[in-house]
Amino acid sequence: MVKGLDKNSMSSQNSNISIPHIQNGLRANKSTSIGRQHIESEESLNSVLKFPMVPFEIENFITSKHGTAQILSADESTGESTQRVTLKKGWSAPIGHFNTDIEIFVLTGKLRQGGFLLRNLSYSFLPAGIPSGPWVAEEDTVLLWMPDATPTYKTKDYASLKQIPENSAYHVKMQHHERMAEYLPAQELHAMKWESTTFLPPGSARKSLYTNQKTGRATWVLGLVPMWIEGNFYAGHPSIEEAYVIRGDVQGHWSMSDDPFNRRYAIMGKDGYYWRPAHIPHGPFWTESGSLLLFRTKNRLDCYWMLHNPDITQQDQARFQAAHGKDNSV
Ligand SMILES: [Fe+2]
Repeated sequence: MVKGLDKNSMSSQNSNISIPHIQNGLRANKSTSIGRQHIESEESLNSVLKFPMVPFEIENFITSKHGTAQILSADESTGESTQRVTLKKGWSAPIGHFNTDIEIFVLTGKLRQGGFLLRNLSYSFLPAGIPSGPWVAEEDTVLLWMPDATPTYKTKDYASLKQIPENSAYHVKMQHHERMAEYLPAQELHAMKWESTTFLPPGSARKSLYTNQKTGRATWVLGLVPMWIEGNFYAGHPSIEEAYVIRGDVQGHWSMSDDPFNRRYAIMGKDGYYWRPAHIPHGPFWTESGSLLLFRTKNRLDCYWMLHNPDITQQDQARFQAAHGKDNSV
């Protein structure tokens, strides 16, 4: 739930990230630390557009004059977070590098990063230490900003360079960076092929944006055709999972943070969002109009399955006995 705005205590600035505006009804003991808090409620699933706006500021990179953020979920101790950020047209930043890995998914607008244009459903993965820029917002741009920790932006090593795209791409810190192969300057969703999904029934497909081969951490877009239905089961994963709805709806039985093991029916709509800890079962789901969602998992996605109740095998004892009794009386 998002209530009780206190603008003085909200911030997305360096080492000062906090989300007191998200009162999610968690019943867990306060000493139970899971990093980010579980964000999953009727309100977050409906739309995050009403989440409060806070200044978006990173030294050497952006000032709040040009950026605002809505913090969707965050680990307040490390700054690892998912934020919906708006950059105003005309903002620019010089060549530099971040001290932490950052994922960017552009929802609308145009953002130039060096020789690459991030626009309508483009994705970028910036490993820590990789030079990027110069940056310019060619239009008002809305994006999901997903740093692994509170970012700082270092420009000192590049200050004497002419601010042109070649000088970040050709830089020795790029071409000889040990994680250069992980760098994804721009992936345009429209140019990518659909792939089969591993666990979901037909009518679903994915476009894989990032996969860490060692840990299985992944970011992808899931597409669901209209009237897709999952089945009569629910599922859990040994991985944290989060999703943001780009368009469409996903209906079903959600594991709300105020009562995570008794699933409640709700509809997730455009700009709906959840961040769910590992081993919280959820589902089953279906969609009316079809859907396009950005997904992230922290580890390899494995599933364990449980029958939804009442289920098609009639294992529900009360129903079974009622049916059995009826049979005997015939
Ligand atoms: Fe899931």
